[in-house]
Amino acid sequence: MPDGPVIRAATAADEQAIDGVIREAFAATEFGQQGEARLVRMLAADGDVMVSLVAERDGAIVGHVLFSRMGVEADGAPLSGAGLAPVSVVPAMQGQGIGDALIRAGLDVLRGQDVAISFVLGHQSYYPRFGYSPDLAARFASPFAGPHFMAMMLDSDAIWPQGGRVDYAPAFGRLG
Ligand SMILES: CC(C)(COP(=O)(O)OP(=O)(O)OC[C@H]1O[C@@H](n2cnc3c(N)ncnc32)[C@H](O)[C@@H]1OP(=O)(O)O)[C@@H](O)C(=O)NCCC(=O)NCCS
Repeated sequence: MPDGPVIRAATAADEQAIDGVIREAFAATEFGQQGEARLVRMLAADGDVMVSLVAERDGAIVGHVLFSRMGVEADGAPLSGAGLAPVSVVPAMQGQGIGDALIRAGLDVLRGQDVAISFVLGHQSYYPRFGYSPDLAARFASPFAGPHFMAMMLDSDAIWPQGGRVDYAPAFGRLG
């Protein structure tokens, strides 16, 4: 039996491997492979990466997740927020819980950084299992508003803000 993947913080030496994982994972999706890899490089260059983790199996990087800084205003005050994007697992290893482990580990790191809220733009059948809710995201004005826009309070006991506004890091606006 092969060992399960190890989840660890990404380092500068992982840059090429992460790029390859993202390209491979997104090649078969409607999003295309160029944009997401470029996004990760721009977020890093801008200093907007909050958490970047890799999944490593038998010495090879097979998955990656990134959370970037967001501008969040909730009930008139700034709130520390992180956007989940992108998450990638190489096609040959999808469906084995690696994406799940990467996202849960990333959320734990954010909790350790006292981040209050996380947003994601993605599939409604996948992200609610981690605690993301379209109802919470709907309280925030955003260009991404809609059923695929979800949010979660990282402290599950926290009271939901009544309303606010959220912006992704500037790199998202430079995708095109
Ligand atoms: C999304 C992704 C990271 C999930 O990683 P994974 O290791 O395959 O996921 P897990 O094994 O933890 O979870 C599998 C579950 O995710 C679901 N899932 C996987 N990709 C999905 C997608 N694009 N949309 C909806 N559900 C998806 C599977 O149906 C499965 O559901 P189940 O548990 O109810 O059977 C991976 O499939 C991937 O890299 N996809 C291509 C890139 C992408 O679309 N990323 C997300 C957009 S930012």
